[in-house]
Amino acid sequence: MATNEDRLQNKVASISCKSVEESQRNYEKWAETYEKDLHNVGYSAHLAVCTRMCEKFPPETRPHVRILDVGAGTGLAAKELRKQGFKHIDGLEPQGTMLDKARELDLYENYFQTFITEKPLDIPANTYDAVTGSGIYAEGGHVPCEALIEMIRLVKPGGYIALCTRHVLVQNSEIYKFLEPLMDKLEAEGKWKKESREIWPRFYMDKDGIVWCYKVL
Ligand SMILES: C[S@@+](CC[C@H](N)C(=O)[O-])C[C@H]1O[C@@H](n2cnc3c(N)ncnc32)[C@H](O)[C@@H]1O
Repeated sequence: MATNEDRLQNKVASISCKSVEESQRNYEKWAETYEKDLHNVGYSAHLAVCTRMCEKFPPETRPHVRILDVGAGTGLAAKELRKQGFKHIDGLEPQGTMLDKARELDLYENYFQTFITEKPLDIPANTYDAVTGSGIYAEGGHVPCEALIEMIRLVKPGGYIALCTRHVLVQNSEIYKFLEPLMDKLEAEGKWKKESREIWPRFYMDKDGIVWCYKVL
């Protein structure tokens, strides 16, 4: 009989394909059981980005902070952020059925059903105090590395960007092995400054994550 781990591995394989259309179709099929399946294997990327937000924004400031949650999925990060006193959270997510789960619980203030890339979105520069992105990178390609440029554009100087993914992706993936070099390049260009980079144990199952927090300059 398939275990929770087997089931999750199959789901992750189904969304980790080269074709964006197929990956999105598989998220649509997964939306109904997505949160339960991840809960069963101890998924914690949304907790990692929320922890970083709580470190940067003291409780009394949180009701006034504007956050954009990129690759929002069903809204797991927003649920955690709300528990910690953040109120103004927008969600950006291309897959409508995933996003509808967040809508049912009224988790976001604004819903942007679209992909983030390096191209400017129809959102003014410096709109947000922070961007979060949990689990937004996957084999085959999800959020492109260059979308960091757009995330930085959207955040006010002095704001923060917190991202978390599986550690192995930045070590081995043909796409995401370029992520950290790009992060360093953007830092060398004075676009942002690294506040922290940590291994986040048990991102899910026994797989480690990595969580970064940058300050936009
Ligand atoms: C593994 S899910 C993570 C969802 C949520 N952040 C969480 O922690 O549960 C990855 C999400 O990224 C979305 N995604 C894929 N490519 C994207 C892109 N270019 N821009 C924004 N979101 C994207 C997928 O549709 C999917 O919902």
